[in-house]
Amino acid sequence: MRVLGVETSCDETGMAIYDSHQGLCAHVLHSQVQLHAEYGGVVPELASRDHILRLTPLLDSVLAQAKLDLAQIDAIAYTEGPGLLGALLTGAAFAKTLAFALDIPVIGVHHMEGHLLAPMLEEHPPKLPYLALLVSGGHTLIVRVDGLGQYQLLGQSLDDAAGEAFDKTAQLLGLGYPGGPALSQCAQNGNPARYALPRSFLKSEHLDFSFSGLKTAVLHLVQKTEDLDAARADIAASFEEAVVDVLSQKICRALQQQNLKQLVIAGGVGANLRLRARLTADCAKLGAKLAYPRIEFCTDNGAMIAYAGAQRLLAGEHSTNWQISCRARWDMQELAPPLI
Ligand code: KG4
Ligand code: ZN
Repeated sequence: MRVLGVETSCDETGMAIYDSHQGLCAHVLHSQVQLHAEYGGVVPELASRDHILRLTPLLDSVLAQAKLDLAQIDAIAYTEGPGLLGALLTGAAFAKTLAFALDIPVIGVHHMEGHLLAPMLEEHPPKLPYLALLVSGGHTLIVRVDGLGQYQLLGQSLDDAAGEAFDKTAQLLGLGYPGGPALSQCAQNGNPARYALPRSFLKSEHLDFSFSGLKTAVLHLVQKTEDLDAARADIAASFEEAVVDVLSQKICRALQQQNLKQLVIAGGVGANLRLRARLTADCAKLGAKLAYPRIEFCTDNGAMIAYAGAQRLLAGEHSTNWQISCRARWDMQELAPPLI
């Protein structure tokens, strides 16, 4: 089965074609980072408008890249939620209209299910069950994955997501947008031990996170620092070290509590080198394997939606009406294995 995947939940328009026999045929992406940069964050209305502009040209390029035409697509999967409602609706309208015109099945996919299954697109996919750490601008989740639709949320951030904390701290330090890459580059020249910043919930047994106290601590530090230019790299490094410390210690606890030996990292913060180095060392100590989707599938993309949709379509699921609806909020715990 050949499935077209469409992702428009936030500020990336992604499209891909996944073949259940041959694997990924093609994937294309348009990032809106430049569009939102001057505002220091995603402007929902601008995001929706830009998705509308990009969808049709991206469909042409994904088909050209795969050397296929529309008649060779068997089904369409789109991100139904969670995400920005206007942005989601552009992809849903596009996918459902196209599926209706082509008279093929269509399915709405949970964005986080896409992220959780993204490592399955790699040549050597991780073996189930595994533990996933999803760290992006919108989410910080620890999830146990036992199979399609079998996800157990073990821990999550109770306030800011890890990526959001990076972005906001970068702003406090006068670095660019999106802040994560800029902050971690600045941190490379800094001393991570210079400032003792808070590490919330580290001593508690539970697996939840909180990053807002850390952000406030950086704010106070910046306010009382006379020469920010001289201190910037050390503050960035100390902040990064605090986030990495919390993430890695909670992940190790989760691996031990669940008796799992496979960890998967997904989401934009997964690109952070200090986090990667720490998790590599910690997993080695625990005798656990560590897997990452390739960088372009760590962040939002159409391939993960095509893949997750294909798994559910193959199990016999598809949308049973042509109404265009999305879910800005959609609890991952509502997901279930397909009813066969
Ligand atoms: O998964 P993603 O591309 O988009 C969603 O949020 O869905 O993640 C983006 C987040 C941003 O907050 C960005 O600052 C962060 O990932 N990020 C990083 C790095 N690269 C991206 N954070 C820390 N270090 C990085 N190298
Ligand atoms: Zn995402």
